[in-house]
Amino acid sequence: MDSREKELIEKLELHHGLSEAEYAELIRDRDDDAARILASKADKVRREVFGDAVYTRGLIEISSICKNNCLYCGIRRDNAQAERYRLTDEEIFSCADEGYELGFRTFVLQGGEDPHFSDDVLTHIVSELKSRHPDCAVTLSMGERSRDSYQALYDAGADRYLLRHETADPEHYKKLHPAEMSFDNRMRCLRELKEIGYQVGCGFMVGSPGQTPETLARDLVFIREFKPEMCGIGPFIPHHNTPFRDEKQGTLELTLFLLSVIRLELPGVLLPATTALGTIHHEGRELGIKAGANVVMPNLSPVSVRKKYELYDNKICTGEESAQCRGCLDARITQAGYRLVVARGDSPGFSKRQTVEA
Ligand code: SAM
Ligand code: FES
Repeated sequence: MDSREKELIEKLELHHGLSEAEYAELIRDRDDDAARILASKADKVRREVFGDAVYTRGLIEISSICKNNCLYCGIRRDNAQAERYRLTDEEIFSCADEGYELGFRTFVLQGGEDPHFSDDVLTHIVSELKSRHPDCAVTLSMGERSRDSYQALYDAGADRYLLRHETADPEHYKKLHPAEMSFDNRMRCLRELKEIGYQVGCGFMVGSPGQTPETLARDLVFIREFKPEMCGIGPFIPHHNTPFRDEKQGTLELTLFLLSVIRLELPGVLLPATTALGTIHHEGRELGIKAGANVVMPNLSPVSVRKKYELYDNKICTGEESAQCRGCLDARITQAGYRLVVARGDSPGFSKRQTVEA
């Protein structure tokens, strides 16, 4: 690591941000020493805000049906070989009930953009979940919708919304998506979710085709300005039935580096160590936590559908029962020197809706 790299890291620590050109330089010239120093500073900052707590969210993958055609995604519309499923309302409720017994206090409903989940259908599910488990947070990750739809879901009790921005560079966005999808609409959704009062998560894949230190620098500036409560980043992993089947996978090294940078940018952000990170390395999630992540999202979906929610190849945790997954993660987090907690785990300082600790 040269003195310039050291200076950039110190500036990032002090000011919680760099200029776009400086971020690009930090990424382009990074080495193992820089990564080590960043990770130790990120861990220190996280311990100041959260102690050794790692929050857990129960992920329920409610549908693999999607009307969109993102070039990277295994459940894209044009993948005729994808196995499609949709959970019934009752199946969703019973996943959540089981998760509650296991200690989960946040449920994340994620799915493709499946037209079945109209506002009526989804608001009913959200309000039923909130009435069964009033001490729990409900997070949605159901893609792009209208402002009215986001408002109706918020009014029904949804607390948080995850919508990765995917890239903050409009030209890069066009390489990852078909012409009918637009960068402007993605940004409109994120802005409106915030205005409505959700705790919002953005994020991107590390190593997506066409990504450069310059596009990543734009992501980092965007994240600092948008100030999301959550930020999901994980490696891009090719799926064999997509146009990106022959592209290179994102690396563990760059993902860990960026987790540390994001922790220093936003000390209070909820930052998951993703399943994709656990997929490219057997200790990926533990290494992610050590680099600054503080959330894990075990799979609560019924075992029978887990393999069908195949966004990328070789996804882990598609065979086990949720109880085993929870136990396994608990052991892994403890082993790494942290503590898995059951609290709802809202973003510190988030006050728009009263929160209840479980
Ligand atoms: N439909 C919702 C949406 O668009 O936000 C939620 C589901 S979408 C499949 C969830 C996330 O999976 C995407 O935002 C994307 O970043 C990630 N993803 C999709 N394909 C992937 C791949 N091949 N490798 C890694 N992550 C992928
Ligand atoms: Fe699923 Fe370890 S988290 S088996």
